[in-house]
Amino acid sequence: MLPHKLIEQRLQHAVQAILPGSDVAAVLVRPCPDPKFGDYQTNALMSLAKARKMNPRQLAADVTAKLDLRDCCESVEVAGAGFLNFRLAPSAMVQSLQEAARGEHLFFEKTVRPRTVLVDFSSPNVAKPMHIGHIRSTILGDSITRMLRLLGHRVITDNHIGDWGTQFGKLLVGWKHHLDLPALQIEPIGEMDRLYKLVNAAGESDPAILEQSRQELVKLQRGDEENLKIWREMLALSQAQFDRIYQRLGVNFDKALGESFYNSRLQPLVRELCDKGIARESEGAIAVFFKDIPHLKANPALIQKSDGAFNYTTTDLATLAYRLETWLPAEIVYVTDARQQLHFQQIFAVFRRWHPEAKVNLTHVWFGSILGEDGKPFKTRSGETIKLADLLDEAEERAFKVVSEKNAELSEAQRREIARIVGIGAVKYADLMSNRQSDYVFSWDKLLALNGNTAPYLQYAYTRIRSIFRKSGLETTGGGTRNPRLALAATQEIALARHLLNFGLVLEAAVDEYRPNFLCNYLFELAGHFTSFYENCPVLKAESEMRANRLLLCELTARVLKQGFEVLGIETAEQM
Ligand code: ARG
Repeated sequence: MLPHKLIEQRLQHAVQAILPGSDVAAVLVRPCPDPKFGDYQTNALMSLAKARKMNPRQLAADVTAKLDLRDCCESVEVAGAGFLNFRLAPSAMVQSLQEAARGEHLFFEKTVRPRTVLVDFSSPNVAKPMHIGHIRSTILGDSITRMLRLLGHRVITDNHIGDWGTQFGKLLVGWKHHLDLPALQIEPIGEMDRLYKLVNAAGESDPAILEQSRQELVKLQRGDEENLKIWREMLALSQAQFDRIYQRLGVNFDKALGESFYNSRLQPLVRELCDKGIARESEGAIAVFFKDIPHLKANPALIQKSDGAFNYTTTDLATLAYRLETWLPAEIVYVTDARQQLHFQQIFAVFRRWHPEAKVNLTHVWFGSILGEDGKPFKTRSGETIKLADLLDEAEERAFKVVSEKNAELSEAQRREIARIVGIGAVKYADLMSNRQSDYVFSWDKLLALNGNTAPYLQYAYTRIRSIFRKSGLETTGGGTRNPRLALAATQEIALARHLLNFGLVLEAAVDEYRPNFLCNYLFELAGHFTSFYENCPVLKAESEMRANRLLLCELTARVLKQGFEVLGIETAEQM
């Protein structure tokens, strides 16, 4: 068993003994924020004490007295207001490394309580280019999915494409009167975007055009054959372009049920909410009011407009109900930017009234904006929003320059392939490493730097370890890893081993809070520990037993790095 799991188990037993009948599922450990104090830490006793009006330090002391961790901890200490800090014994560390060497685990375990989680992410809009806001959703959502799956949860990913809405009225007018067919063939989304903007601008000065758009929309919604045919073509063309981006990013979806899929469910839904007294008429429209929810008091949720049209909220409610019936998820996670917070608060609040018995967890994983180096929303030089495809092209192009400078001896094809891995990885990593709830400044130089907390730095650390193996003439340490006399002597070896052991704990924390940045920081620190180990502890020049031990540390570091990258959705190269 992994040491942190063993500690949790014993801790839960001790708490159970002192506070019989208490719920100990939340008694967990986390990596100690400052290694000075130990390897693992729990703050769970403080909340237990608070709920029982006990002195938290006393409770911590009582639990410690009941706790026998002599086989895996060097020390257990009460700290601060009632924290417990645990320091691992070197023997426990060695044992865990040996298990990992035998392939029994890679410092994490699958969950004992797998849950079904539906992750709603990316969700671009038809006929519009995917913009940089969709990139964060796509990258974060994909990484969250990968982490959940690695820990053994069942995940269903659903791309809730914006394929139904008022924009199609204007798009249809544009398509019928101003379509540039050759342009459509070369860059379909660009052309559709142009049509929309054209009609939109014309509508501003000419009410007749607005009226025409409205009529086209009504015709589409009533099932007019011609309009449906055009709409389907717009969908197919957009989807093809989205798919190219997903392919470049290595992102897959299990489902892509767009907004239109729920169309027939909207009217019955509104009727049901009215019948149940949850929604009511207000100034010709239909809305749900939240008098009892302070932060929503001033923000009723509109579910049908006075002209009879349904909206984003109606669709999301129908979508939520459908997902629950179809997949029975324990949790639904929505990954969108911060501006949609109110929208999801409303959806969740309406849903709780509608299905008070439902146990599903609803989580809005929101994120901030990407800013340019001037601190303003990231735009092109001419002030346009940046398109995802262009961004990825530029990333690969810039990475190609960096890679070519370092590896002039490689063929162009090889350099291109490395540049693809580095460029896409760098864009993804920049997104994942920052706290998702803050805005971050997009800087090419920073994200492609070979030093610092960047993808290229980490990818390079990985290739460096791989080259140690190439030089050693071994593919991996193979049989040599089964070293019964594994010993850690140098402080750098111990620090590296300690950090390796934290991998699972960090993964769990990253999944609990939907924060891949925890994992990024972990990997960055891992690379740092590896560097100081490598600088201080000769590997290939060491004698046989020490050499085997150190090669094992190299191998485990490479495996953790690779696994870490994999759940971030980032590829590695063998050479850079
Ligand atoms: N299409 C929306 C947008 O581009 C995002 C949809 C997010 N998912 C959802 N179920 N509302 O802003």
